[in-house]
Amino acid sequence: MAKLAPSLLSADFTKLGEQIDVLKDKGVSYLHFDVMDGIFVPNISIGIPVLQSIRAYTDMILDVHLMITEPERYIDAFASAGADIINIHYEATQKHTEIFERIRQLGKTPAVTIKPKTDWHDILPLLKYVDMVLVMSVEPGFGGQSFIPSSLDTVKALAEYRRSEKLNFDIEIDGGINLNNAAEVISAGVDIVVAGSSVFCKGDLAEQTDKFMGIVEKR
Ligand code: DX5
Ligand code: ZN
Repeated sequence: MAKLAPSLLSADFTKLGEQIDVLKDKGVSYLHFDVMDGIFVPNISIGIPVLQSIRAYTDMILDVHLMITEPERYIDAFASAGADIINIHYEATQKHTEIFERIRQLGKTPAVTIKPKTDWHDILPLLKYVDMVLVMSVEPGFGGQSFIPSSLDTVKALAEYRRSEKLNFDIEIDGGINLNNAAEVISAGVDIVVAGSSVFCKGDLAEQTDKFMGIVEKR
């Protein structure tokens, strides 16, 4: 069964608790939390104090996506703020293995993230250190962009590699996912579907979440 990870980047931050309640009530188990530093990506978002508040509020799985340069500087801080999964970008650091080992030492789940133009072969040596690969299907930095179709080929290639090498990592996709393309990415091999604007900005949150859950978690 695939999982839905709503991206809080598109939430209404004045009603965050209420919106998390709605998601939980609908059976959502993951929350995707986007951290941007204005350097690795041309935008700034939310960070440690907000994550701490969410951690104190819910036991849902907090999937933290670090779009920051040299994430090694902040692994301990995000772990103690309550992250469960910590995603770092392949291009953001040279200290991949050190970071993944540290994340594990802290009892958290390490993940590597690739951008649409990253050659997926580049991360093959890292697969033994991570439990998840996050495939970006838009250029990171902003919600509400259109899905880049070539990311589907990356997902298929990674899923085939995972099968042929008998590996176990999850594949997550992030960017431009909506009710029309969610089923297709799952068929291609995605386990965790991130969706921001299509969950939070398309009318009633409960109804929209129901529709997503019907596609994603009933498969
Ligand atoms: C973009 C972020 C995404 C973003 C997705 O850089 O990583 O998680 O919130 O938003 P949508 O689903 O609107 O493309
Ligand atoms: Zn994200």
